Amino acid sequence: MTIKRQQDITPAVLAVMAQTENPRLREIMISLVTHLHGFIRDTRLTEEEFRDAAAILNALGQQSSDTHNEAVLVAGSLGVSSLVCLLNNGDGGTTETSQNLLGPFWRLNSPRVDNGGCIVRSDTPGPALFMTAEVHDRFGAPLAGAEVDIWHSSPVGLYENQDPSQEDFNLRGKFTTDADGKFWFRSVKPAGYPIPTGGVVGQLLAAQHRHPFRPAHIHALIYKPGFKTVISQVYADDDVNLDSDVQFGVTAALTGHFVRHDEPHPTVPDVATPWYALDYRFVMEPGEAKWPKPPIK
Ligand SMILES: [Fe+2]
Repeated sequence: MTIKRQQDITPAVLAVMAQTENPRLREIMISLVTHLHGFIRDTRLTEEEFRDAAAILNALGQQSSDTHNEAVLVAGSLGVSSLVCLLNNGDGGTTETSQNLLGPFWRLNSPRVDNGGCIVRSDTPGPALFMTAEVHDRFGAPLAGAEVDIWHSSPVGLYENQDPSQEDFNLRGKFTTDADGKFWFRSVKPAGYPIPTGGVVGQLLAAQHRHPFRPAHIHALIYKPGFKTVISQVYADDDVNLDSDVQFGVTAALTGHFVRHDEPHPTVPDVATPWYALDYRFVMEPGEAKWPKPPIK
């Protein structure tokens, strides 16, 4: 069709998108063009701004590597990652969910740890943390024999692979739930940490006067055939940035109550005060048990 005025562009492009053979790709492309054209009209995007936008998209790719994904980081910083997660879990976004963002620090093949064991593998100063967790199905029945990967940052906010002072696989472990669907372990209390700000995301945060921090959290990846693999994070309710996570990952369901204890531990004599206890319950939904691709090689 011959385009005479700006209004003619959108139906012309949509007519072409409608020819897409794959029905799902067709649906996505029609919606994308509709919203993208609407966005350009809403904002009266200038030619200069359009060139800037193209440069930003290019920079997202240029700033990404085997160990850093600026595109995922910007998606998180715009709430896109969380929205995708919430829409695809919790009965299609109608109820709360244990699912959350994978993040960049999961590693395959964490060492196996027996329940009650400790995942502190090298001297890691900080308050002790005792986590006890249950894994249930959505009707509350305990799930025995689920494989659970746990990983978290140190009390100064660094993962072991970012910190030469930590032993390989420090603060990581693989557990199996017992007959009551429980697993439990000792560690140290994690701290929140800043996301990388050297690229596009850093510029966005600066323009909006946003801090770059994620609140302290414990990552869990729970695998059991017959259930959708749970990728989760449990956030510390005493973190100052709980309500302003730069990646918008915190939900009410994922906020864990880290209970501070100033009295001696009742059974473990070497625990200094204060120490912390965290009880938490993960829920698995029916679905496919699949390991994600590890972000770290
Ligand atoms: Fe993390």
